[in-house]
Amino acid sequence: SNPSILILPGDGIGPEVMDEVRKVIAWYGEKRDMAFDVSEDLVGGAAYDKHGTPLHDDTMARAMEVDAVLLGAVGGPKYDVLDFSVKPERGLLRLRKEMDLFSNLRPAQCFDALADFSSLKKEVVAGLDIMIVRELTSGIYFGEPRGIFKEGNERVGINTQRYTESEIARVARSAFELARLRSNRLCSMEKANVMESGILWRDVVTEIHAAEYPDVELSHMYADNGAMQLVRAPKQFDVIVTDNLFGDILSDAAAMLTGSLGMLPSASLGAPMENGRPKAMYEPVHGSAPDIAGQGKANPIACILSFAMALRYSFEAGEEAARLEAAIATVLANGARTADLLGPEGGTPISTGEMGDAIIA
Ligand code: NAI
Ligand code: MG
Repeated sequence: SNPSILILPGDGIGPEVMDEVRKVIAWYGEKRDMAFDVSEDLVGGAAYDKHGTPLHDDTMARAMEVDAVLLGAVGGPKYDVLDFSVKPERGLLRLRKEMDLFSNLRPAQCFDALADFSSLKKEVVAGLDIMIVRELTSGIYFGEPRGIFKEGNERVGINTQRYTESEIARVARSAFELARLRSNRLCSMEKANVMESGILWRDVVTEIHAAEYPDVELSHMYADNGAMQLVRAPKQFDVIVTDNLFGDILSDAAAMLTGSLGMLPSASLGAPMENGRPKAMYEPVHGSAPDIAGQGKANPIACILSFAMALRYSFEAGEEAARLEAAIATVLANGARTADLLGPEGGTPISTGEMGDAIIA
């Protein structure tokens, strides 16, 4: 049977950018003889409007079965007044949690045509292609005890950074595997100088390296130095693996090395399923962009690059992923720009649909 994909377009520009991904999926079926079984459902505000919940149980069950979930974006001002328990984001969080997507991959890749767009000097970012792997299901965002407590006559806010050996090991393995698919270099970041969890993190990564991945070139760096190095000389890195909190911050910083939010894809991977493929969800980093929704202005590239990641990490089709990325590079080199990619000198933007069509062509 064909590999299966569940499309969850979501809200705002989510459905608009997902329309372009659907075109790309159709192209693979027609021209490359790669057919997918595609189903589609609601998530976020769209699901709330229909079912009173941001993720219906049937949708959750389907997500657990398919080879890959492709998600657009969720949220919008209309839903800001809702109770936290039914907010659109809760749909996303439930997917991540129940699919146990512990390994969050955020590439920072700079297309030559957009090197001027970076917050940094062109020579620092031209040709940049790095990958940050962030642990996504544990660490300080989840550790107990947590809360705001009374201590004497004042309040104290408490979060707990907590990592088990197995939680570190599984994300480390995922990063080592990725490094092997790329330039075979992994840099692990923590703060072993001041944190117990950082000492354990460094120990576990070192042990797994010695036992299972001695062929990968491993280095360790304190995360604060890592932040500095990412801005100073980002091309020194290939794959970076780090915990949930540091990964949140470092991946946002790395994202801005490359320019527009409309260009950034992500993948979240879990444990292998029976067929050997990891549980997986692919989504652009951006949100539902209510300010431009419904106007055909959204840049579909982040969402299309997320599908390229699905080709590479879920469908063993790395060459096809590279083909798709090359098409995007060509289109950009030829000068095609959605509105978000126009610099101060301006120019005429093309629409979401025109960008999708240009990539297909
Ligand atoms: P946002 O990412 O939706 O938009 C930030 C800015 O970037 C806006 O000016 C927007 O027009 C622009 N932008 C974003 N994606 C773009 C694209 N593909 N093409 C062109 N321009 C693009 O973040 P914001 O405004 O903070 O949040 C809007 C809504 O999205 C909120 O409800 C928020 O909760 C939700 N959100 C959802 C996320 C998700 O589904 N993963 C992630 C971030 C925010
Ligand atoms: Mg963040």
